[in-house]
Amino acid sequence: MFKIAIISSSIREERKSHRLALYFQKYLENNNLAETELLDLKQYNFPIFEERFKNLKSPSDEVIDFTTKLKNADGAIIVTPEYNGTYPAALKNAIDLFTSEITRKPVVIATVSDGDFGGTQALISLQFTLWKMGFWTVPTRFHSPRIHEHFDENGVPNDAPATDKKTKRFINELLWSIEAKSRMEG
Ligand SMILES: Cc1cc2nc3c(=O)[nH]c(=O)nc-3n(C[C@H](O)[C@H](O)[C@H](O)COP(=O)(O)O)c2cc1C
Repeated sequence: MFKIAIISSSIREERKSHRLALYFQKYLENNNLAETELLDLKQYNFPIFEERFKNLKSPSDEVIDFTTKLKNADGAIIVTPEYNGTYPAALKNAIDLFTSEITRKPVVIATVSDGDFGGTQALISLQFTLWKMGFWTVPTRFHSPRIHEHFDENGVPNDAPATDKKTKRFINELLWSIEAKSRMEG
């Protein structure tokens, strides 16, 4: 079974986007679609970036854990809120740790806001950053507006059938890309 890393990007007190990360984890596991690793940046509590992982002389256990889990995952979902038209500094702080370790890793982006637009502006800048780094940015998207109204604290959606339907389309693109890559690599 493929392994998918889910990066939860908000480290804010009272954060809401983590609900979507929890939902994706349950969706993948309950439907036997993939094994998951939830990479929660709030739990990692990284200091401000000083150096890429490969150049760190004595990386912390947290940095080793995070980089190893993302490197070993077959694909990734990044759940990000929109802060001032882009993605949070905590996410940039974490992904700058990587260089070629993530080349061609399939990744999809899910954006979140508490307003009506679902974090659509954050998609553009994050997609560019991931493309620039060499991730395989899969052309699908998931926007989650008014997050607090649609998911509870445990990631349970108010409207499960509609949410699952939307998620199926999103996840299928990621799984297709992971499968295609695995066939190419034999
Ligand atoms: C610093 C900051 C900037 C924000 N900027 C935007 C924004 O540009 N667009 C938007 O739709 N929502 C914006 N919001 C509202 C967020 O979408 C909302 O707070 C959401 O819950 C953030 O995700 P989080 O709770 O997981 O941190 C901003 C929130 C914060 C804290």
